[in-house]
Amino acid sequence: MFPELERILISKEKIAERVAQMGAEIGADFANRLHAEGVDARSEDSVVIVPIMAGAMIFTADLIRHIPLKLRLELLAVSSYPGTATRSKGAALMSELKADLTGKHVLIVDDILDSGRTLRLVRDLLHERGAASIRAAVLLDKQGVDRVPPPDGHEFAEHVGFEIPDAFVVGYGLDYDGCYRNLPDIGVLRT
Ligand code: IMP
Ligand code: MG
Repeated sequence: MFPELERILISKEKIAERVAQMGAEIGADFANRLHAEGVDARSEDSVVIVPIMAGAMIFTADLIRHIPLKLRLELLAVSSYPGTATRSKGAALMSELKADLTGKHVLIVDDILDSGRTLRLVRDLLHERGAASIRAAVLLDKQGVDRVPPPDGHEFAEHVGFEIPDAFVVGYGLDYDGCYRNLPDIGVLRT
């Protein structure tokens, strides 16, 4: 599709299959945990999904249609790769979180876990806002990269779609300098 791509790493068929599995797994996890507290997650208003824009846009759109719970979306924009950078320059919040999350069970959704700065920043923010529980789902987990220390007593992400090697990937929402988000597969950019 794009000559700038070196190769396709994960096909759209594989992505679709895994995203459906993840949605079912996340739905069951929320239903079980809330049930233990006497809450019916299919009817009660306590689940909030926080997609990290813009990278998580396409993943979130597909994922939430496999999560059969009553839920709300609260978008959050975080920037870590300004322009043509391919290494994190530190995560910065680019939008405000307006919702009151007191007592809510929150799932952060992001496209990819790299240095961990984005998930740390967002987890800390949601914690400050009074979330009752915080989980994170990432489609991709980049292996063999330097990570910041994980949030206290937590993993960066409880739900991971695919572990991938340390390469710069684009497609299915992931961008390089704002482009290639519309590629249906995930590919490695030619360097
Ligand atoms: P972290 O804060 O270093 O963990 O990076 C996470 C963010 O960086 C993700 O939300 C992505 O937006 C971006 N990112 C990290 N690796 C890649 C990549 O290979 N391609 C495109 N974006 C990436
Ligand atoms: Mg991002």
